[in-house]
Order: sequence, then C-alpha cells, then structure tokens
Amino acid sequence: MEEVERELGLDEVLKLASNENPLGPSPSALQAIRETLQEIHRYPDGGCHSLRQRLSQHLGMSPEELCFGNGSNELLELVTRAFLGPGDEAIMGHPAFVVYRSVCQAVGCDIREVPLKDFTHDLPRMLQAVTARTKLVFLGNPNNPTGTCVSPTDVHDFLQELPENVILVVDEAYREYVPRDLQPDLLRPIRDGRYVLALRTFSKAYGLAGLRIGYGVAPAAMANILNRVRQPFNVNTLAQKAAAAALDDTAHLKETVRITEGGRRSLQARLGEMGLSYTPSVTNFILVDVGVEGRAVAHALLRKGIIVRSMEVYGLPTHIRVTIGTPQENARALKGLGDVLDEVEAAVRSSDSTGGRSDQ
Ligand SMILES: Cc1ncc(COP(=O)(O)O)c(C=O)c1O
Repeated sequence: MEEVERELGLDEVLKLASNENPLGPSPSALQAIRETLQEIHRYPDGGCHSLRQRLSQHLGMSPEELCFGNGSNELLELVTRAFLGPGDEAIMGHPAFVVYRSVCQAVGCDIREVPLKDFTHDLPRMLQAVTARTKLVFLGNPNNPTGTCVSPTDVHDFLQELPENVILVVDEAYREYVPRDLQPDLLRPIRDGRYVLALRTFSKAYGLAGLRIGYGVAPAAMANILNRVRQPFNVNTLAQKAAAAALDDTAHLKETVRITEGGRRSLQARLGEMGLSYTPSVTNFILVDVGVEGRAVAHALLRKGIIVRSMEVYGLPTHIRVTIGTPQENARALKGLGDVLDEVEAAVRSSDSTGGRSDQ
C-alpha cells in the first residue's frame, strides 16, 4: 500500500487484494501484544504451550492433535515436505489456492489438477483421479479464488470413499465466514484417526495476517510428524499471545462476520445491478467476471488507489477478486469499478467508430 501511495502520489490507498479483515485486529489482541513487548528479547515458546491449551479447550481436541505454523501457509509446506516426494501424487482442484501447487513443485511430486465444476470442487472427479500413487488431496473449503464451498455431506461422503492411506488436507482459512450449516465437522474423523489435516488461520477473520500464525488439527501421530519437520521457533511470541487473546474476543469475531455478511449481500446485489457476473461467495471475497481483461481493470483500479487481484495466474483472464471491506470501502470499490468499466466501454466505442485505428 505504501509503495502504491508513493509511486502514484495517492493519499488513501484501499487494499482489497488479500482477504484481510477491514476492522483490523481485535483490541484484546493489541493489548496482549503491548503487554508482551518487553519479552521479545527471548525466543518464543517453541511448543506454543499456552495457546495450545487454550485452543485445545476451544476445539475439544487434545493438545497433541494440534500443530502451529507461521501462517497456515507454513503448514501447507510442512505437510507436503513431510509426506510427499518424487513419484508421489497430489490431487487438487483447478483453480485453487496457488500455494498448493507451489509446495508440491518444491518437493518434486506429481500434481493432478481436477477442474472445478461451476466454480466449485468436483469431488466425484477428484475421487476418480486417485491412483495407487496418490498420497494427498488438497481441498480448499471454501476455495480461494472462487469463494465457494462443498456441503458437509459431500465432504463426509468423499472421506468415506477416499482410501484410508491418502491424506486429506482441508484448508479452512475462511471457515469463520461460512454459514454454520455449511461447516463440515472434520474433528470427528480426526478423533477417529483418519488422516485428515484441517488447517485454520488467524490471518483472516481474526485479523492477525501480519503476525503470521495458523494451526492444524490432525491425529496425534500426524501432528507429531509435522512438529518434527518444523523449525523449533516457527511461531513468534507476539503471534502466540495475540492469537490466544483474539480467540477470546468473540465480540470482534462476530462483528467481523456481521460486517462481511452485510458487505457480501450488498456487493453482490450491486454487481448484479451493474450487469456483472460473479460467483456467489461464502467468504470475505468475491470473484467477479468483468467481461474484459481483468489485469487491465485491476491496473486501472490501482491508478485510482484501489488494489484488487487480477485472476490471470489462476487461468481466469476476465476475472478479478475483490475482498469485502467496510461499507464505505465497498462503495468506493464499486464506484471505481463502475468508472473503470465505463472508461473501457468508451474506449472500445471510440475505437469502433475509428475502425479500430487507435492512432487517429
Ligand atoms: C485458501 C487459503 N489458504 C491459506 C491461506 C494462507 O493464510 P496464512 O498463511 O496467512 O494463514 C490463504 C491466504 O490467502 C488462503 O486464501
């Protein structure tokens, strides 16, 4: 944001590109950070003891079934590094979160991408893709960049059919935003010993993206292996304290979800009125088909001080992904998008009237 402000000479840049919490961190987390500042000359608690106890009560899981990472991204890397290598196969949807692919490339395993169906994971096709070499399946639920989820029954049925030796990584980075009846219960199969790793994060609804902390829930034997491949001090002290405080601040979480749901409803309604097609979302972001080159639209918005994500890298050249902000931020984003699309249309019209010769 600072770079955009400096380079474009803008005052107030609005970042709606990384699905962060527009309300900021919980005040309790900030207080915990202030109280901990005096201790940062010490290494962190490598076992995240106090957060582990707190989270174990919160989830009703044993402390041994938890593992912590420098963001849930680190856990994606650790699970891949621990269990996959050349000759193994990982299955993932397409498009899905780019990190699944990059962590697999880093360990040299084969990647089988299964196209989404209606912008949602196609679980029957993913099952069909399983072979004797398949070791792990990534399921972003909800999926980034589409903002869609599969139903709890479908996840349950998928797990029933998946061979027991295959690890299922369910990335639940956006779980808190999902309506209750659409949140699968993965803790039960984990208690039953299924090789499931449920990944969650403090970066999104808990508003702590800059501190880098996420966690995984898995059968104790699996969590133990992830613990053995991580760096001894992978989660910093401030992150541990702030996460524990954020977990207790249910008011902040509720307000975050409330403002996101409201923003989602009004953004989607307005996008519809503008004649733009979007993928109905259960998260804090919306995938929008702008009908023209998404990269150019993202660029034009950037010049207006609004940062959104072009979806070219996900193979969606006419899409952008917009994070849901506060009502004021959403209004600014919609106004900017409307203006940019009007400009594009005017440019096309003028190029039509000049026979496509832009030099005249
Ligand atoms: C689907 C998904 N998983 C994981 C992450 C990583 O989150 P973090 O490493 O901040 O916990 C993100 C962040 O954008 C995401 O969209």
